[in-house]
Amino acid sequence: MSEILTFLKTIEEEARSAIEKADDKTALDNVAYSYLGRKGKLAEVSRGFGKLDPGIRPRVGSRLNELKKTLNELITQKAGALTSVLESKDVFDYTLPGKRSPVGRRHPLMQTADRMVQIFRGMGFSVATGPDIDTEFINFDALNTPEDHPARDLSDTFYIKKGILLRPHTSTVQVRTMMAQKPPVRIISPGRCYRSDAPDASHSPVFYQCEGLYVDERVTFGDLKGAIIQFARDMFGPGIKVRFRPHFFPFTEPSAEYDFSCMICGGNGCRVCKNSGWLEISGAGMVDPEVFRAVGYDPGKVTGYAFGMGVDRITMLRYRIGDIRLLYENDVRFLRQF
Ligand code: PHE
Repeated sequence: MSEILTFLKTIEEEARSAIEKADDKTALDNVAYSYLGRKGKLAEVSRGFGKLDPGIRPRVGSRLNELKKTLNELITQKAGALTSVLESKDVFDYTLPGKRSPVGRRHPLMQTADRMVQIFRGMGFSVATGPDIDTEFINFDALNTPEDHPARDLSDTFYIKKGILLRPHTSTVQVRTMMAQKPPVRIISPGRCYRSDAPDASHSPVFYQCEGLYVDERVTFGDLKGAIIQFARDMFGPGIKVRFRPHFFPFTEPSAEYDFSCMICGGNGCRVCKNSGWLEISGAGMVDPEVFRAVGYDPGKVTGYAFGMGVDRITMLRYRIGDIRLLYENDVRFLRQF
């Protein structure tokens, strides 16, 4: 083998071990420079090319090219390895931008229910819960609802089978609580309810209520008004007004529907309150003596009030949400706002 080819072999071995030993980018750059650079070892050999025996030139030429290619590849490979060491967990590069981890949060409905519970707890109520699936007896009979009342209809209430239904309100929990404990009773019942309604901007077949019940000696309609007004102020601010309108419910007598002054326009009239200045919230009233009899309470000894409260409605007013369906679609782009 010619002297020049032996020399190239020595250069290759030297270069390989130098690349191997380079333990940072600068060292590797130096190696690349001293072998492949303009004044490097391979360039030096190329410069002497003209002085070589013409018979050997093709072999030396191709060997030189091959060697350049090999060294280039080895250097690129090594550079890659050095980068990944830098990125590995032993080396902390504090110049890189941070990674933000997504943080979850409570659903706006649950945030509102939590706030409602907090307000009523402050007035001495405790939380009672019951099953979503209940009996027709608990849901209708015990609540003094006549056999032919339209709410019992299949078109209003979802039945699992005869006598068993998905509760259309959480008044079931009030019945269950009264059947299980003696007065006084002061509870709210937050929970999911079901009605056979076609979904639109203000109806969802699944929704949430937080109904209330207070039974004791000498509980009055004035107490009921006080509790609702206190709730309205705590929830929406001291400027809010409440009004009661006569109504009918089978389980309360007298009964009312109650409205809050529109917190969006301050009662002046806007699109949300349909220019009336008032927003309908729910129903309320004094517990009907028939309900007390059904649960074993003595209507001669105790009186009580009950009220309905829609968590969805309060949530929509609180956050200015125009369509109830947004609360059930679980689109994170919507939920992230709360
Ligand atoms: N249960 C009624 C409803 O779901 C609301 C209500 C509760 C009315 C208590 C009066 C008393 O619409």
